[in-house]
Amino acid sequence: MFSASDTVAALETATSDREVEALPLPHGFQWGTATAAYQIEGGASQDGKGPSIWDTFSHLSPSRTNGENADVACDHYNRTTVDIKLMASLGVDVYRFSIAWSRIIPLGGRNDPINERGIAFYSNLIDELLAHNIAPVVTLYHWDAPQAIYDRYGAFLNTEEFQADFENYAHICFSRFGNRVRKWVTFNEPYIISIFAHLNGTLAPGHCRAVGTDTKTEPWIVGHTIILSHATVALMYANEFRDTQKGEISIVLNGHYYEPYDQASSQDRDAAERRLLFYIAWFGDPVFLGEDYPAVMRAYLGDRLPTFTAKQRELLQRAAPVNAYYGMNHYSTNEGKTVGPASGVAWLRVAPEGFRKLLNWIWKRYRLPIIVTENGCPCPGEKDVSTAVDDKFRQNYFGLYLDAISRAIYEDRVTVDGYYAWSLMDNYEWSAGYGPRFGIIHVDFETLERTIKNSGYYLRDTFMERRRLS
Ligand code: NOJ
Repeated sequence: MFSASDTVAALETATSDREVEALPLPHGFQWGTATAAYQIEGGASQDGKGPSIWDTFSHLSPSRTNGENADVACDHYNRTTVDIKLMASLGVDVYRFSIAWSRIIPLGGRNDPINERGIAFYSNLIDELLAHNIAPVVTLYHWDAPQAIYDRYGAFLNTEEFQADFENYAHICFSRFGNRVRKWVTFNEPYIISIFAHLNGTLAPGHCRAVGTDTKTEPWIVGHTIILSHATVALMYANEFRDTQKGEISIVLNGHYYEPYDQASSQDRDAAERRLLFYIAWFGDPVFLGEDYPAVMRAYLGDRLPTFTAKQRELLQRAAPVNAYYGMNHYSTNEGKTVGPASGVAWLRVAPEGFRKLLNWIWKRYRLPIIVTENGCPCPGEKDVSTAVDDKFRQNYFGLYLDAISRAIYEDRVTVDGYYAWSLMDNYEWSAGYGPRFGIIHVDFETLERTIKNSGYYLRDTFMERRRLS
C-alpha cells in the first residue's frame, strides 16, 4: 500500500524554518507558467468576440458555477503588459496560454468571418512575450467552444463538422501566429471535456442525465471527435507549416496516478491499471501510437465506444509520429480514495511519489519527451492577500513535485523537458468560480490588483539553483 507518511514529514519540514535541499534539474530544462483564456481574460464581448459555451454556462440560472462568471475575471485582456512584466520579473522561460476560438472566429465555423481585432490581441501578446524573452506555448482549445457551433451541430457531438471547423480555425492560427510560436497544443484535457462536460455535466455545455442527454454514448463520441480533430490538425501542421515555422505540436492529457489499494491483491493492481488505461490511454494510444482504443475499453463499453474506420485508422497512423512531446497535466494521486495531505480543494492531495510513478508509466508506454504542462495547488485556507502571500504549503508542493521530476530524470531515466506551474495568477476555476486559488500571483478580484506570492519567488530561485546543480 502507498504510504503518505514521507510526504507528511516533508511537508512539516518545509513548513518549519529549515531549508529543504533541492535536487538538480538539467541545464536546458524550461520552466514557465500556464493559463487559459476563459479563466483570465475577461473582455467577454470586447472587440467583436463571439460568445462561447462558457459564456452561456456561467450565466445559467440556477447557477452551476458558484454564482460567478468570467465576464471580467482577471481582466487580462486589458492588462497584458502588466502581466507580462510580472512574469518576466520571475524569470520564466515560457508562458502557456490558450486562444479563445470565438475571438478569432466569433461564429466559429469555416464559412464564418474572421475577427481581425481578436487576431491583433494574440499577435500583440506574442510579440510582447518575445520582447521579454518568454517563449509562447499556445493551446488552441481550452474548453471554450464558440456557442454558435454548439447551437448549429452540438460542437463535439458531430465529429465531421467539428473536425472541419477546428481544422479551419487551427489553420488561421498557424498562418497568423506560427512564425513566432514554437510549441502548439491542440486540445487541453480531452478526458475532462468528454466526461465532465458530457457525462457529469459540471462543465460547459453541462450535458448530464438531469438535462436528458445521452450520457451512455456522448462522452465516447466526444473523445472520438477530439482524437480525430487532433490528428487532422497535427498532420496539417506537419505538411504545411512545420518545415518553415520549425515548431512542434502535440496534445495535453491529464491524469491522476492510481495506486492499487493493496499491492498484494492482483484485483487491486488490475483495477488501478484499468483506471489509467481509461483515463490516459483512451487518448494516448490512438494519438501517440496510432492504435485503436485500449482493448479493455472495448470490453467494457462494447458498441458505446465508436469504431475507427479504415480511413480514420490511416489518419491516426500518419499523424502519430508528428507529436513531438507528451503534454502532461498532473495534480494528485488516488488509491481507491485520494491520498496525502489535503490542499485547498478536495480532489487534490499532495502525493509526489504518485507523480514520479506516473512519469514512469507514461514514459514506458509512449517514449516521448514529457513536458509537465500544468502542476500546482491551492493552499488550505487561502483567501485574501494577507493569507495568500506567505504560501509555504504551495512552495512545498512545488518543491516536492520538482524533486519527483529530478528522481524520474536521474534515477529512472525518464525524459522530462519542462515544467509549467498552474497558474500564473489566481483565476476563474470553472464550476468552482473564484473560490480555489491556484496562482503564484494573488489577484484581488475587486480591485484586480496583482501581488506576487512567495511561491513565485521560490520557483524563480529554485529553478536557478536546481539547474546550476546539474
Ligand atoms: C486543469 C485545467 O486545465 C485548468 O483549466 C484548471 O484550472 C486546473 N486543472 C485546476 O483545476
